[in-house]
Amino acid sequence: MKKPTVLSLLMGGTGACSGEELSGKLGVSRAAVWKEIQVLRKLGYRIDAAPHTGYRLLSSPDRLIADELDALLRTRVVGSRILCYDQLDSTNTTAYALAEKGAADGTCVLAEHQRCGKGRLGRTWNSPKSRNILLSVILRPRITALDAPRVTLAAAVCVARAVERETGLGARIKWPNDLLLNERKLCGILTEMSAETDRVAFIIVGIGLNVNADPAELPPGSISIASVLGRVVRRAPLVRSILTELDAAYGRIKDGVFDGIASAWEEYSGTTGQRVIAHLPGRTVQGAAQGIDTDGALWIRTDSGLQERVLTGDIVHLRRQTKEGS
Ligand code: BTN
Repeated sequence: MKKPTVLSLLMGGTGACSGEELSGKLGVSRAAVWKEIQVLRKLGYRIDAAPHTGYRLLSSPDRLIADELDALLRTRVVGSRILCYDQLDSTNTTAYALAEKGAADGTCVLAEHQRCGKGRLGRTWNSPKSRNILLSVILRPRITALDAPRVTLAAAVCVARAVERETGLGARIKWPNDLLLNERKLCGILTEMSAETDRVAFIIVGIGLNVNADPAELPPGSISIASVLGRVVRRAPLVRSILTELDAAYGRIKDGVFDGIASAWEEYSGTTGQRVIAHLPGRTVQGAAQGIDTDGALWIRTDSGLQERVLTGDIVHLRRQTKEGS
């Protein structure tokens, strides 16, 4: 059971909360409650204080604040500790350093801005300040390094489900773990890990989700949720939803149970059935994407009729296949 805070009590309640009620529930003085209300107001929370009824939360700032994320989060491991920063070089880099120092399983690092956001295959990840979600989660599953890509597949499914639940938008996964909307990039996932010979020490799952950015502020070929919905979307419920999905999936993955992940991935796949070109070290493979193996490798039937198994790299979607597969 999480310890309540002034914010969680104001967020959880339906009406106003008197200073006396808050101080009683928190076991602190009314002066301490008043002090905390001032801190919250400074952070941008609009809190009404009426003499007879008490405090009422009118609105929250559009910032990701650990207490607010935590207040309504009901997860077991993911989100066990949430750290929100204004600026970092990269949430993955900070999460990695924290994990090396022993940070707990499920610890999350979020930032409003990254100075040197990292993408897959040595690329950079650019995101305008305070518009999107930049999140890294420290996981300590009992698995081998060979199984780590399956964690990334699961993470892509979790983000797709959370986006669907919170916004109604049906994002599709482009192999291995990009999320696309209208064939434009909505989300990228960068997984980094530290492993010994037979076991992963920790995995950092880094998620960059374009929520409120104007596509003109993003790299070409990108899209954001707000640009499709035509309205700004609150990021906190979306983060909570992602953490909730990750927590449910992690309940199984933690002990090396990956059943159902490949089929869940296929449900959201925008790659299976597409004509694709895969850029592999030293060569390219072009053909029809046929779906993934349980380990996440993509099967491509090449134009010359060969079956190619692609384990890492990047693909480009060409044009959609006809029903006959031509
Ligand atoms: C990709 O190339 O598609 C993966 C992009 C991953 C970006 C996220 S943003 C949060 C986390 N921190 C980083 O530096 N990168 C990941």
